Amino acid sequence: MAVDASKISLRHIRDVEDGVLRQFSCGRSQLDEFLHEDARDYDKHGLTSTVVVFHADVAVPIGYFSLTADSVHLNSGERTDLGLPFDAPISYYPAVKLTKLAVIESMQSTGVGEYLIDLICGIASSAPFAVRLITVDAVNLERVLSFYERVGFMESLSEKKERGAQKMRETILMFKDLYQ
Ligand SMILES: CC(C)(COP(=O)(O)OP(=O)(O)OC[C@H]1O[C@@H](n2cnc3c(N)ncnc32)[C@H](O)[C@@H]1OP(=O)(O)O)[C@@H](O)C(=O)NCCC(=O)NCCS
Repeated sequence: MAVDASKISLRHIRDVEDGVLRQFSCGRSQLDEFLHEDARDYDKHGLTSTVVVFHADVAVPIGYFSLTADSVHLNSGERTDLGLPFDAPISYYPAVKLTKLAVIESMQSTGVGEYLIDLICGIASSAPFAVRLITVDAVNLERVLSFYERVGFMESLSEKKERGAQKMRETILMFKDLYQ
């Protein structure tokens, strides 16, 4: 479903009152509590920067996302997939980590998440520094993983190998190549 971009506005968490933040609920308590209690401090101390999403027809925030600088180690297959036309002797690739992403329960599955991913890719691509990849530690649930796959993320094979011995991973490191 297409989101009407003319009705969407973004405000940095610094410009949103606590009372407004507290009205947000996506149904996953960890993500709700982060926005209600921790996001402001994480921003103040340079750990992750949070943007709150509003819709002209909705009284409460409809979503939020948090971003942090990152770098990713790729295995040789993943490096080949980048399709660089020259040999770049670097093992870590510049990235932006999507540390949090959530949409209010009543608007989930209406395309807002996909719209926000496009927006985040645009923000990262237009930064005045190089960003090749968007990364995310996706919650290890079928619906969440299929959402990220649908919007162009793939699982990091390097991380899978490193953490392969663990029976049940709580999160799965995934990345999306901004140049594909
Ligand atoms: C995951 C999430 C950000 C996706 O945003 P969205 O606006 O619902 O996504 P879209 O409408 O663009 O795409 C819909 C797809 O997202 C996934 N999705 C929808 N609701 C979901 C939910 N409650 N939890 C997890 N994934 C969900 C499904 O794959 C869905 O496809 P379907 O409708 O065919 O089942 C959003 O559902 C959400 O906030 N979920 C709860 C918090 C969460 O799990 N965040 C991710 C942490 S890594």
